Amino acid sequence: MKGATCTSPVKLEGKTVIITGGNCGIGFETARNLLLRGARVILACRDLNKAKSAAEQLSELGSGVVLVEKLDLSSFDSIRTFCKNIKQHITSLDILINNAGVYFHPYAETEDGLEMHMGVNYFGPFLLTHLLLELLKKSDSPRVVFVGSGIYKYGKIDFNNTIRKTFFQKHNAYGDSKLACALFCREFSNRMSDTDINIYYVHPGPVNTDIGRNLFNSFLWKPMHYLFKLFSKTCVEGCQTVVYCAVSEETKDQSGYYYSECQRDEWANQALDKQLAVKLWNFSEKVTGLIE
Ligand SMILES: NC(=O)c1ccc[n+]([C@@H]2O[C@H](COP(=O)([O-])OP(=O)(O)OC[C@H]3O[C@@H](n4cnc5c(N)ncnc54)[C@H](OP(=O)(O)O)[C@@H]3O)[C@@H](O)[C@H]2O)c1
Repeated sequence: MKGATCTSPVKLEGKTVIITGGNCGIGFETARNLLLRGARVILACRDLNKAKSAAEQLSELGSGVVLVEKLDLSSFDSIRTFCKNIKQHITSLDILINNAGVYFHPYAETEDGLEMHMGVNYFGPFLLTHLLLELLKKSDSPRVVFVGSGIYKYGKIDFNNTIRKTFFQKHNAYGDSKLACALFCREFSNRMSDTDINIYYVHPGPVNTDIGRNLFNSFLWKPMHYLFKLFSKTCVEGCQTVVYCAVSEETKDQSGYYYSECQRDEWANQALDKQLAVKLWNFSEKVTGLIE
């Protein structure tokens, strides 16, 4: 096994989990792990065919309950519709795993005119988490887990260029979006300190998934993919810290921290800028239409 393993025996019977992008990669293996613990897992995916085929595979485990629901994080309308639909099926939410993401995406804009990395990796989950707060607050010990990346420390928040029309670089855009998620986790934890909701930011390490498809499919990077496969984790290995934050007793009363290899690690300075976190929060409320 490469990397640390979550050894928590915690069972999740009666608990409801939403995993964005649960149809493949780290999200799929997280879903498998939580189902085996008895949870009801909702795969929130942009492609319902992929989601249904993942759900079929998972239902063969014979443990927990798996459901699918359409969610496209590149559309605020889709996020709002998802939340409206989900509220008809569940009355409380125990674990939200903000896992879905894009990396090294060519320049593109979301339905709402945001650069794709910022839109899907950050603004979408920002809105989603807010719209699910009501359900989270009804759980005994609600948790929100962000599947982030250690690359956040190379990110930058440039409010004049969020849409990134002028200075677009794929790798930078990814780092910026993951820094935005880190700042969100810190600020969310402060603002939710009078509730039972805990939030966790996870760096899964290099994991052999399809996330690098836009990078490794390029002629120049193809050979690197073989090296990456050799040294990266499998998805089972890559989901361990996500599961640890979602279920472990050790992380129960912790919130707003950075985790890798099933343990708490130090935030880099970039994530500790409180003023920036507040400014980004206020900005994001406007961008997502949560406030006028
Ligand atoms: N793999 C790594 O080395 C690594 C390292 C650090 C962090 N991470 C993070 O881990 C998370 C999971 O990635 P992964 O490695 O498991 O990659 P993956 O297998 O490519 O999974 C990404 C998931 O996100 C979904 N997604 C993409 N755009 C979406 C949208 N607009 N709306 C809803 N879902 C969308 C994908 O759906 P489709 O199947 O329809 O494309 C897929 O289910 C990401 O946040 C990534 O940044 C990964």
